Amino acid sequence: MNSYYYYPKFLILILLILIPLCSSASLLNQESQAIESLLNRLDAKKPSLSVQESAAKGVLQRLLPSHLSSFEFKIITKDVCGGSNCFRISNYKSSSRDSPEIMIQGTTAIEITSGLHWYLKYWCGGHVSWDKTGGTQLASVPKPGSLPSVKNEGVVIQRPVPWNYYQNVVTSSYSYVWWDWERWEKEIDWMALQGVNLPLAFTGQESIWQKVFSEFNITKKDLNDFFGGPAFLAWARMGNLHG
Ligand SMILES: *[C@@H]1O[C@H](CO)[C@@H](O)[C@H](O)[C@H]1NC(C)=O
Repeated sequence: MNSYYYYPKFLILILLILIPLCSSASLLNQESQAIESLLNRLDAKKPSLSVQESAAKGVLQRLLPSHLSSFEFKIITKDVCGGSNCFRISNYKSSSRDSPEIMIQGTTAIEITSGLHWYLKYWCGGHVSWDKTGGTQLASVPKPGSLPSVKNEGVVIQRPVPWNYYQNVVTSSYSYVWWDWERWEKEIDWMALQGVNLPLAFTGQESIWQKVFSEFNITKKDLNDFFGGPAFLAWARMGNLHG
């Protein structure tokens, strides 16, 4: 059950796979085409604009309910950033007194929530972290009606890499195993604010294995003995659990 000991071997394996790939330009080209087509397929599966905008509003409502109407969120197309994902923070232009103050546009809901976090951090001195590393500190955010303006033309931040990956293969057992929905929602909100768009999603892996093994006539009872208990699933999945 020693997972640290497992990593050097794993890294060497990855390097052994990657080194020959890097030596061949045409293979690399094929790789980037494969990633491009995967990205396009993922784009096609995105929920509608209004679902994404209201999901981002949900994060704001849980994070800073007092400022729910201070922000306007809008999904924009990737053309705004030459085909990349980005967010844009600008001053909301309206003469009405009760109108939103800050407009955050993003190419996805995740870009919008990372734009919100960027604004709270760099314009309002806020801090959104895990509880162990400071938690949510938003007392410095000015009251609705007094939010600081950004420069006239607004601020555009482009995502430098397509994916921001989060977690390692054992987090699901070390940290999440007994979490309820409330704790998960908090973590997913945190991910959204940090711009994470590729979390590892291991939950339910055994269910798929159960279906595959049943096609080979392996009984449920034998499988139950084979799978690890909830707190040990990560190590059972990696095949380094004996007993
Ligand atoms: C599973 O059992 C069925 C029924 O006895 C049999 O027809 C089938 O060939 C078996 N499948 C495997 C993979 O052994």
